[in-house]
Amino acid sequence: MTISRLSLNSDAFFQDVLGDGEISRADVEALSPRLDELRRRITQWRDSETVNFFNLPDRTDLAFIERLGRDAARSFKQTVVFGIGGSSLGGEMLSRTLGHRSPRNRVHFYDNVDPNTFDEVNDIKWNETLCLVISKSGNTAETLSQFLTVLPRMERYLGEEGVREHTIIITEDTEGALYKIAQQLGIDVVPHPSVGGRFSVLSVVGLLPAYISGVDISGVLEGARAMARRCEKDGMLDNPAFLNGGAQYLHAEKGRDISVFMPYADNLRLVVNWYRQLWAESLGKIDAEGRHRGMSPVENHGVTDQHSQLQLMLEGPDDKQVTFLADPGVRHLGRRVPMRFQELPAVAPLSGHTIGELFISELKGTRETLTRHGRPNRTITLHDRDAYAIGELIMLLEMETVVVAELMGINAFDQPAVEESKVLTRKYLADLRMAEF
Ligand code: PA5
Repeated sequence: MTISRLSLNSDAFFQDVLGDGEISRADVEALSPRLDELRRRITQWRDSETVNFFNLPDRTDLAFIERLGRDAARSFKQTVVFGIGGSSLGGEMLSRTLGHRSPRNRVHFYDNVDPNTFDEVNDIKWNETLCLVISKSGNTAETLSQFLTVLPRMERYLGEEGVREHTIIITEDTEGALYKIAQQLGIDVVPHPSVGGRFSVLSVVGLLPAYISGVDISGVLEGARAMARRCEKDGMLDNPAFLNGGAQYLHAEKGRDISVFMPYADNLRLVVNWYRQLWAESLGKIDAEGRHRGMSPVENHGVTDQHSQLQLMLEGPDDKQVTFLADPGVRHLGRRVPMRFQELPAVAPLSGHTIGELFISELKGTRETLTRHGRPNRTITLHDRDAYAIGELIMLLEMETVVVAELMGINAFDQPAVEESKVLTRKYLADLRMAEF
């Protein structure tokens, strides 16, 4: 199936390629009645006046984000983003995958509180830096700590008015701490849409840092919009999310509940970082019958992990399904291996080929070996690894996630269990304070 600038080949998910006893397209079609309720919701999402992940490409205020981003890129040499999970992974993915490496628009993402790395903020020159703080709830411990620990330094170097000029806060909950802090400091708040963090990349949350990094965010939205139209189709085999979500679900039911994502392009690795959260946090749930559901996302990196994980994928437990992310453009890149030493058997096949040709041939070889071993796999090819193709990919992966959640009978949009660890963190912080006395 060719989908504009992204093509999706999932033949090796099915029995005609994998062999007898494997799932068939007819098995996927048989799931159709179980998606009727989702079909109804998709139409509702599309037509709704209220913003949701599916209508974000149509509802996001592009002009507003571009204005804000243009001002930021003009006024500051660099931007630091404080946020975690869904408040950072989408923006980082777009910036690293599509952004320009211009020194004028450097965007740094701090999504951890390891003091060994976070302490580098002590060297920030605040007079040339924008501080972008993103938290939907406004109560996230890590993000609050990041902002509150740099604030005194910002105040010292910039003064109160300067802090207002150098800070943008994106948050939703007007009862949240970040909102209240913004009010006290007189900082304007940009509203976070009512969309869960891991589904928010196509809003100001992901698109503002991306725009500052030089990403064509209008292209991202255009690609996402085109994919959304394809994912509205009713037929199981014409709708790429139904076909691929259905197939992944059926493989998981056969015990293949590890989803390996294997990009053959270094700068597509951030796509996998973003996807891991989307897949894990959306699907790891207890269903109505009390069963623990979910599929574990794993990143393997082509070609490097062929020398680390491939043996396991071929002859280890048959508990995985693999998605390759391919960029055919690399074929023409890289230096050519000289003809020197071609008399050596290990060098001969390489002689005269570019590094890019080796890269693509390794992808083809790995994929075929998996298929020969009966291991399900599919390939998503980004023909022009541009903004449009990445927009298509984002919407496809979000919709597949929603389809699998529907088939598993769980809610893709909540994360009820994570709260427990947050409560315990606050308890341990309180215990530490007591211990000082
Ligand atoms: O996707 C999610 O809902 C989470 O990963 C959140 O994005 C993450 O916990 C950060 O939350 P917040 O944006 O409220 O700071």
